[in-house]
Amino acid sequence: MSASNNNLKAAFAGESQANRRYLAFAKKAEDEGLPQIAVLFRAAAEAETVHAMNHLRIAGEIGMTISNLDEAISGETFEFTKMYPEFLEVSKQERNKQAEWSFNVANQVEEIHAELFQKALNALKANEEVPKTDYYVCKVCGNTVENSAPDRCSICGAPHAQFLKVT
Ligand SMILES: [Fe+2]
Ligand SMILES: [Fe+2]
Repeated sequence: MSASNNNLKAAFAGESQANRRYLAFAKKAEDEGLPQIAVLFRAAAEAETVHAMNHLRIAGEIGMTISNLDEAISGETFEFTKMYPEFLEVSKQERNKQAEWSFNVANQVEEIHAELFQKALNALKANEEVPKTDYYVCKVCGNTVENSAPDRCSICGAPHAQFLKVT
């Protein structure tokens, strides 16, 4: 692995984080009645996404969909079987209820993601058409649901209106 390839991966991680951080900052600016600064944060966030995608592509990290699904399943599985269980344990020891909540909901949703990716991978491998569906994401906990938004989120209890349709 060349130094540049390692640098591309490190820069991908940094730019990806900057993208989400700036979107969060944009929302905060909106809340503070500073819409123009929110636009600036969103513009920079878009640009960081362009940088992140360039770095990832040039690092050779984007494979064919069949291997991307495999990688996604491995990542999600690591998160819900190892990373989040360990993080949860520490948050309980430290009695950090908010961290515990955040790790707990993410942990549950990563397992759902692994299942959804696995289902898609199975269909792809069997040469079956992947069934057409919309996905609904809970804006509170990230719960990811096929077909239609539930009345209440099964993970965090948020109402129907908190679900965002992804097509
Ligand atoms: Fe996930
Ligand atoms: Fe939720």
